[in-house]
Amino acid sequence: MSKSSPHLLAIETSCDETAVAIVKRSQDTISVLGQTVASQIDIHAITGGVVPEVAAREHVAILPSLIKNTLKQSRLNPSQLDAIAVTVGPGLMPALVIGVSAAQALAYAWQKPIVPVHHLEGHIASALYRAEENPNAKPQIPNQFAIPISKHTFPALALIVSGGHTMLVLVEDFLKYRVLGTTRDDAAGEAFDKVARLLDLSYPGGPAISQAAQTGNPNTYPFTRPMLRSGDLDFSFSGLKTEVLYKVRELSATQPVTQFVNDIAASFQAAVVDSLTIKTARAIEQTKPRRLLLAGGVAANAQLRQAATDLAKQTGIPFSLAPLPLCSDNAVMIGLAAVKAYQAGHVSNWSDIDAAARPDLATFRRRLQA
Ligand code: KG4
Ligand code: ZN
Repeated sequence: MSKSSPHLLAIETSCDETAVAIVKRSQDTISVLGQTVASQIDIHAITGGVVPEVAAREHVAILPSLIKNTLKQSRLNPSQLDAIAVTVGPGLMPALVIGVSAAQALAYAWQKPIVPVHHLEGHIASALYRAEENPNAKPQIPNQFAIPISKHTFPALALIVSGGHTMLVLVEDFLKYRVLGTTRDDAAGEAFDKVARLLDLSYPGGPAISQAAQTGNPNTYPFTRPMLRSGDLDFSFSGLKTEVLYKVRELSATQPVTQFVNDIAASFQAAVVDSLTIKTARAIEQTKPRRLLLAGGVAANAQLRQAATDLAKQTGIPFSLAPLPLCSDNAVMIGLAAVKAYQAGHVSNWSDIDAAARPDLATFRRRLQA
């Protein structure tokens, strides 16, 4: 194998999905030769949230068989791989360490370099590398992605919205990121999960709230659109969550939750989507990007997908949405991000990498440069 058409095995264990993928670059495309994801949602639904040690134990139990199955799907043997890519952070430390240790063991045993990947560059890559299919359609992960053309793509403005992060990032080039805004407290997905708990909805809260919202009226409760007057590109969702809590308490005094759950869900969702799109519009004005990207677990939300699509149309900016199955955590996105990193020489020896709970996205690649 060669540096111009590398074959990489990628591992992701930063939160509650264990995932492995094998990707291959050729000319203008990246193909997925194998991929597996095991979700722990059923286990964490029992506790209503992710317990890091439980997540780690599940990663340990399942990762070896995922690696085996993904290799089998790819029809490669380990000697045909060029490197092992792995998410080193951000994420839950006990969970990250499992993927990193596995990558180290494989790199040592197979004598391969490691490509450390920042989890958020994975999410960015899921929208940056365009799947050759309709992003709203396919139930399964696409198996072919086009490598974007620099002069038509950068700078790209990425809105990343997940359970752990809410961020506006200016992608200045491959592997070059500038963080424009971030959440000051809860991430948007975290707010969905917490509000779902207030409404007695199931975990994870995002899908449950968006389903309840379908039959609710978003104008029933005019919740505050957070941070609109802040003048910067930061987000905050903890105040909105508290506002919803007070409203739920007030309404529960006279009626069962089932009577108002749909209207609260729709009104809360509308406030989050507005807050995200208004700040994104402001970032577009300030940075004049060539492309708008939307990715992360909350990017699976139909209202947010529609609002971002509308915003791109209004501003005349080409728009790339992460395909639905790539919104939640997976290893294909880690493999996509790792290809350029590998080709730029951002590789480490197995003994030189560590998991990190909160690595800074802007400086992550600079520190790894060969
Ligand atoms: O990206 P992800 O799988 O994990 C992190 O990196 O955090 O995101 C998970 C988050 C959860 O908070 C979940 O409630 C949220 O994404 N989510 C949604 C939807 N589907 C998942 N939020 C809103 N609407 C959805 N349809
Ligand atoms: Zn994620």
